[in-house]
Amino acid sequence: MKNRINKIKELALKEMSEAKSLADLEKLRVKYLGRRSDLTNVLRGLKDLSKGERKEIGEMANKIKEEIESGIRNQESGIKKLKFSNIESREKIDTTYPGEKIKKGHLHPLTQVRYEIEEIFKSMGFLTVEGREVEDEFHNFDALNIPKDHPARDIWDTFWLKDGNLLQTHTSPMQIRFMKENKPPLRIIVPGRVFRYEASDATHESNFYQVEGLMVDESGKITVANFKSAMAEFMKSLFKREVKIRLRPSYFPFVEPGFEIDVSCPYCDGAGCRICKKTGWIEILGAGMVNQKVFTSVGFKKDKYEGFAFGFGLDRIAMIKYGVDDVRLFYSGDLRFLEQF
Ligand code: PHE
Repeated sequence: MKNRINKIKELALKEMSEAKSLADLEKLRVKYLGRRSDLTNVLRGLKDLSKGERKEIGEMANKIKEEIESGIRNQESGIKKLKFSNIESREKIDTTYPGEKIKKGHLHPLTQVRYEIEEIFKSMGFLTVEGREVEDEFHNFDALNIPKDHPARDIWDTFWLKDGNLLQTHTSPMQIRFMKENKPPLRIIVPGRVFRYEASDATHESNFYQVEGLMVDESGKITVANFKSAMAEFMKSLFKREVKIRLRPSYFPFVEPGFEIDVSCPYCDGAGCRICKKTGWIEILGAGMVNQKVFTSVGFKKDKYEGFAFGFGLDRIAMIKYGVDDVRLFYSGDLRFLEQF
């Protein structure tokens, strides 16, 4: 019996010294101390021994049990220590190394251009005011000399709402709202979101942004020449280079005469390129001298005042400024595009 116990001890100590991992040690614990181990069997059989033997063998077996237990514990802490020793060199955590930068967002390119435009006009004495996206027929059309059933209404394909209101098709309604509240002299710009019931393609969206401008003073004080120079100044500040301006006659019911304005292509200086479709010019805005009918619709006396109004697409300006050839990119939400600005 003593031999048997000593054999167990020898073997256990030998295997323990060879164990390499915590899992190995756990196996040995089951093998030598578990319910089915030899040692447990010896202890279980003690009751069949004589009194003298029981004492002697019992003590011996218990002592060995303790030795094996403490041996396993020692091995365990040895293995754990080894695991964490030299961890600095093995895992190389350098706490002085700068952390990963959290990406910061930034303003959308259209917002950036809008702010820039507002700043330029502010420096020329223009106040920025905002209109509304849901408008009524009176401000969007009638007061701007576009009565019901007038063919000019076809210029603006309109989203009508069930209650008879509409989504503003241009920023011009704010001309009316502002002049109802303020007497000339006045100088305003009106950035705003506008809606047109049309299919979208590379240069058209059914929802886009416009900037309206209006400058009014007593008759005789504001001429087309003032308008031209204000526009030239604006374009120069915006595109950061000298640009030429060209007026072509055009028709909008709320101006008389009406123009469309082209700028010499800021990309190729008029030589002809992809952006200006080889023409050297880019059509940029609608404008004109305010029609007297607009003044009378806000309660001003006919011929008392004179002024100019203009409206341009913010998206279009942004496309030209950044050389973007598809307007839809601005609305795609694609970060690969947006992060370039
Ligand atoms: N409101 C016109 C449009 O959306 C642009 C415009 C504004 C034309 C002011 C003349 C004067 O097409």
